[in-house]
Amino acid sequence: ERQADPEELLLFYLRKRLRLSGTKYGCGVGGCGACTVMISTYDPVAKQIRHHPANSCLLPICSLHGAAVTTVEGVGSTKTRIHPIQERLAKCHGSQCGFCTPGMVMSIYALLRSHLEPSMEQIISALDGNLCRCTGYRPIIDSYTSFAGEPKCCQLRGTEKCCLDQEEHMCSSSTGGQIRSGLCSPEEFQPMDPTQEFIFPPELIRMAQEQQRTTLIFHGKRTTWISPPGLKELLELKAKYPKASLVLGNTSVGLNKNVNVVHHPLILHPVRIPEMHVVSSTNNGLVIGAACRLAQLRDTLMETIPKVPEEKTKIFQALLQQLRTLAGEQIRSMASLGGHIVSRGSTWDLNPILSVGKSVLNLASEDGKRQILLNDQFLAGCEHADIKPNEVIVSVLIPYSKKDDFISAFRQAERRKNALSIVNSGMRVIFSPGTDTIVDLSILYGGIGSTTVSARKSCEKLIGRQWNDQLLSEACKLVLEEISLSTSALGGKVEYRRTLLVSFLFRFYLEVLNGLHWMVSTGQALHTHSSIQAYPFRYAELSEEQKSALGVLQSGVPRGLQVYQDVDPGQSSQDPVGRPIMHQSGIKHATGEAVYIDDIRPVDGELSLAVVTSIKAHANIISIDASEALQVPGVVDVVTARDVPGENGNDEQAFAEDKVICVGQIICAVVAESVTQAKQGAEKVKIVYEDLEPILTIEVTIHLFLLDSIKHNSYITEERKIEKGDIEKGFKSADEIIEGELHIGGQEHFYLETNSVLVIPRMEDKEMDVYVSTQHATDVQELVASALNLQSNKIMCHMKHVGGAFGGKITKPSFFAVIAAVAANKTGRPVRFVLERNMDMLITGGRHPFFGKYKVGFMNDGRIIAADFQCYINGGCTKDESELVIEYIVLKVDNAYNIPNLRVRGHACKTNLPSNTAFRGFGFPQAGLFEETCIVAVATRTGLPHEKVRELNMYKGINLTAFKEEFDAENLWKCWEECLDKSEYYSRKATVEEFNKKSYWKKKGIAIIPMKFSVGFNATYYHQAGALVHIYIDGSVLVTHGGIELGQGIHTKMLQIASRELKIPLSYIHFCETSTTTVPNGKYTAGSVGTEINARAVQDACQILWKRLDPIRSKNPNGKWKDWISEAHKQSISLSATGYFKGYVTNMNWDTKKGHAFPYFLFGVACSEVEIDCLTGDHKNIRTDIVMDACFSINPAIDIGQIEGAFIQGVGLYTLEEIYFSPEGEQLTLGPDTYKIPAICDIPEKFHVYLLPNSRNSVAIYSSKGMGEAGLFLGSSVFFAMRDAVAAAREERGLPLDFTLNSPLTVERIRMACADDFTEMIPKDKPGTSKPWAIDIH
Ligand SMILES: Cc1cc2nc3c(=O)[nH]c(=O)nc-3n(C[C@H](O)[C@H](O)[C@H](O)COP(=O)(O)OP(=O)(O)OC[C@H]3O[C@@H](n4cnc5c(N)ncnc54)[C@H](O)[C@@H]3O)c2cc1C
Ligand code: FES
Ligand code: FES
Repeated sequence: ERQADPEELLLFYLRKRLRLSGTKYGCGVGGCGACTVMISTYDPVAKQIRHHPANSCLLPICSLHGAAVTTVEGVGSTKTRIHPIQERLAKCHGSQCGFCTPGMVMSIYALLRSHLEPSMEQIISALDGNLCRCTGYRPIIDSYTSFAGEPKCCQLRGTEKCCLDQEEHMCSSSTGGQIRSGLCSPEEFQPMDPTQEFIFPPELIRMAQEQQRTTLIFHGKRTTWISPPGLKELLELKAKYPKASLVLGNTSVGLNKNVNVVHHPLILHPVRIPEMHVVSSTNNGLVIGAACRLAQLRDTLMETIPKVPEEKTKIFQALLQQLRTLAGEQIRSMASLGGHIVSRGSTWDLNPILSVGKSVLNLASEDGKRQILLNDQFLAGCEHADIKPNEVIVSVLIPYSKKDDFISAFRQAERRKNALSIVNSGMRVIFSPGTDTIVDLSILYGGIGSTTVSARKSCEKLIGRQWNDQLLSEACKLVLEEISLSTSALGGKVEYRRTLLVSFLFRFYLEVLNGLHWMVSTGQALHTHSSIQAYPFRYAELSEEQKSALGVLQSGVPRGLQVYQDVDPGQSSQDPVGRPIMHQSGIKHATGEAVYIDDIRPVDGELSLAVVTSIKAHANIISIDASEALQVPGVVDVVTARDVPGENGNDEQAFAEDKVICVGQIICAVVAESVTQAKQGAEKVKIVYEDLEPILTIEVTIHLFLLDSIKHNSYITEERKIEKGDIEKGFKSADEIIEGELHIGGQEHFYLETNSVLVIPRMEDKEMDVYVSTQHATDVQELVASALNLQSNKIMCHMKHVGGAFGGKITKPSFFAVIAAVAANKTGRPVRFVLERNMDMLITGGRHPFFGKYKVGFMNDGRIIAADFQCYINGGCTKDESELVIEYIVLKVDNAYNIPNLRVRGHACKTNLPSNTAFRGFGFPQAGLFEETCIVAVATRTGLPHEKVRELNMYKGINLTAFKEEFDAENLWKCWEECLDKSEYYSRKATVEEFNKKSYWKKKGIAIIPMKFSVGFNATYYHQAGALVHIYIDGSVLVTHGGIELGQGIHTKMLQIASRELKIPLSYIHFCETSTTTVPNGKYTAGSVGTEINARAVQDACQILWKRLDPIRSKNPNGKWKDWISEAHKQSISLSATGYFKGYVTNMNWDTKKGHAFPYFLFGVACSEVEIDCLTGDHKNIRTDIVMDACFSINPAIDIGQIEGAFIQGVGLYTLEEIYFSPEGEQLTLGPDTYKIPAICDIPEKFHVYLLPNSRNSVAIYSSKGMGEAGLFLGSSVFFAMRDAVAAAREERGLPLDFTLNSPLTVERIRMACADDFTEMIPKDKPGTSKPWAIDIH
């Protein structure tokens, strides 16, 4: 690239300039890994080629001079050769929507290029930085286990057991096929042949050698980039331009630029300076060049530690511990040590250790060299201790530790890996030789202030003291006095963070005690000094209780087991139904060839669109001034509500008119020649507001309703209510009554592909093509048509691949499409509107936050007699799907329990927050958790085992729900018994109890949770579906239907169905796209029934065609398919048919409170075991067993994939994912940096899924059941296992057991619930004394 612009980042260069769209945009801030590429460089000094993964969204193209970039397209493609990595990922079902898949491929590819036979730990850590919202990671891990240089045969099948002993699961079932385990056939994999890989281009080696002495300069529009060839030149430049930034990894500078729009006019890139890459061992320690990457530092430490006496490596070990969890492998490979030190982020993990370790910075400037200590004053940016503007860090000396040193590293993050610390710390004590008298003590904390802070004064006061319990108490007191954290501190979690300060200190105290004991017991501490006579007695071995506080939780390599029933032995081998067929787009996902909306090539004259959103939660719009925006070069127009020729939305407005009702509401849109110009224009639009009082929380809504419901209009819908039995009588006859409340937070969909739309006006008749990432094409079509005042027949919507949706792309994409369509209509040009991650999260709502109140009457034997539930959801500012969601909560809240006298009332509250919408499970995940909380409350009060209370109250035999729908609970019990058995629940429960008796600070918990999930919708018309099947003269078949591929494998199953119905191989059948032109009026693809209802339509069409071929087939029964088709064509038989499914008959009458609300029920049970760290709240998922009543699975790989993926999304909902809003109603969690979805470190170490055999469902096609959503609620088994562990801790501490734990059960909530002396000693703020950073909106 001759005109490389220093501001241009590789991701956009690849996608927009080179049109290589395999590399995806998922977040733009280095947090998701969708944009991963491999960077290869040649080091002319070491004469080495290095490969590493990198996040292209943070990589300036100028940093790549002389480097080779490999994207997914270069790894393999369907046009050339599919690489074994791509093949195995696809064949092991490691992709669903496929949007994260190229990034996954690239992370593993980069690893394999450097390590031919990596260990499983290396494979897992290579994927630390890659998020997947669909699969639950298990199949991704499976697909790569075959590359591990460890025992192979047993891992190949992706099962926990060795393939040789899988016979255990291969028993013959009484009625169907055999029971099988494993979903792919490793014997089909191509072997990995490293000789087939691209070699590093020799011309780049030559270039690197030749250009060693050349200064490289790139001039951009606003920034100049200079890469000096040597230190001398760098120092000259630094002297001349002291304000110039040095950029190495760009992971700090780049991030600030993206997030805070900081501009750097001159960038120096000191990547070729040998002194800055030095790695050498000296008498004092290791010298590491400032330009060395953190991954390189990790590898150096790993190599060095075994070679050096252990006592010298304590700083190295502490650093290594932090490096194992710091960011993902991409960031570790990009970020430099110098960049880490100088950027001094408050939560950067290495700085506290480097500082307590007394690391020395070797600085250089034109004035000469000098050394400074990397101490607390440097970290605080004190002028006298800082580097000067004309100086650079050349290298860092990380000293060896000494015998009498003790150094520890601590960090606690919201997620164990790839998450910035909430608080981190480095602590060091140095004793006078052979004694326990402190001669030096340093304690530094990150995550408390704007940079790392030191407890310097506290440490000074403790010098000269002995290491004993009194010291600990005093140290805690002093630290809490010195390190203060205001109630309104950025990031919230104030009391938790204060608790971590002392919890870490306590752990350090014990680690040192343990170390002293070890030294004494091994004779290492015994000097001749007389004052230590008592030494061995004072430092006896730690008690079991103390020992349990040591060490951090670490997960092993996850292993999965998938067990399902094979097809009937008599089934034709060509018939794919019931078999684990690979996702129809699996290979295209893995090669990056699947085309998502933003991968569609630019169209002639295309404009980009950026929106201006409200910064107020509730306000009148006084004026919109777009004059400055229109002056921005490239800006073509500004579009507002006035430009909408027809309807500006329905319940919700596409553009705000005279009022805004939430932060993030779209007010107007700027269209320009490029995205950058559109964004620049949007920043210049000036809006004047007149503030109105906002309502943000459910609590305030209820309060206002009670005051005056009509005036405040605070509910979105009327109360929804069902009643069964006589609850007053029930309460009277109960032995006891308990009351309580539960809050459940919302959830972001975090589909990996953000909302995207491309609108192309056609030249004639005002027609328009709308390419959109949606679950509901008809809604897009209708809203666009009505906005443009056109008939729907002019609007053609197209969808091929949607990069994840989970309910979030049902209603919202229509508004984005309207905005783009109005802009296209006004300008007459195509318009592309692709939301950036932060805008997507700001504008769209998510799962409804929930607040529930319960009153439950029960007998002393655990039987629940009566329950009165009041359920509220925070609907946000418009109705959207809130009415349906609250209805489903009311209808489904009983879950698996038969409560004879039950009253449920539900309200959707109206607030000034972005409107919440559908999300996988549609209310049931909240309702189910609420019900289970009541069960736990009863079990706690009666002292009965939780599983016994569950069994006592579970539906048995044929039953009626509260709304009088009949169902049979037989399979609920089968799942329950099977799960108890498969999980070895009782014996493991006993083991957990044993563990807890011995371990005070780490506790385990186990829970088994039953589920009755109702599939589908409570009205027939939602279930209707259409299909169109063409047979071409060559015998090939094109199938289309109204369902949309969201990753759930709908098209794969459709092809399986068409294959069975037409009795032809899968290879004859193709699916092209979902479009409103081929199949009109489709309902949304949702509710777990999208696949089965469209399948019925496809089946119908195929059967019509098969019937039409009857006469031809009977005339030529031995003929081939192609012969029949050719003959049919000759006989003028139509080879095209539409199929239709009217829908399941369902209804709900809210007046009579009766209905056949759902087509059928689905049962499942999950048992999970966890371990928690009571000192920090950290937790790990040890094992999960799920038994699901999937009936006849059309594709066990897809169905198990749905169960696992939904389960992990549930684990996210209930234990990790937290949305924060400011007191003004602005969402603060707007990307993967602040909002944590489960990563690979969050999946259970053992993850077993069993599909219940010999079960059939007469309602759905081929006796199947819809698996899309149900697994999500089973994630609550992890929540309740954690609760069990917390209860064990509380019991031991003598705390009340009838405590409430709200969801999500985060590290913070776990820690604070395990109250102890440390939570007691922290300063508590009086509520309402200052403005918090964030508020609870539920
Ligand atoms: C997604 C993501 C996740 C992360 N997670 C973690 C985490 O879990 N834990 C953690 O500790 N950190 C984390 N980080 C932060 C990361 O450690 C730092 O951003 C990184 O170390 C900075 O290094 P860099 O080379 O990219 O710096 P750059 O962005 O290239 O430069 C940063 C600054 O350092 C200055 N500078 C660089 N080198 C020198 C030198 N030799 N002499 C003088 N000045 C110099 C530059 O002028 C610039 O101001 C994360 C970052 C991202 C983007
Ligand atoms: S897009 Fe680069 S990490 Fe998410
Ligand atoms: S397959 Fe991973 S995000 Fe969809």
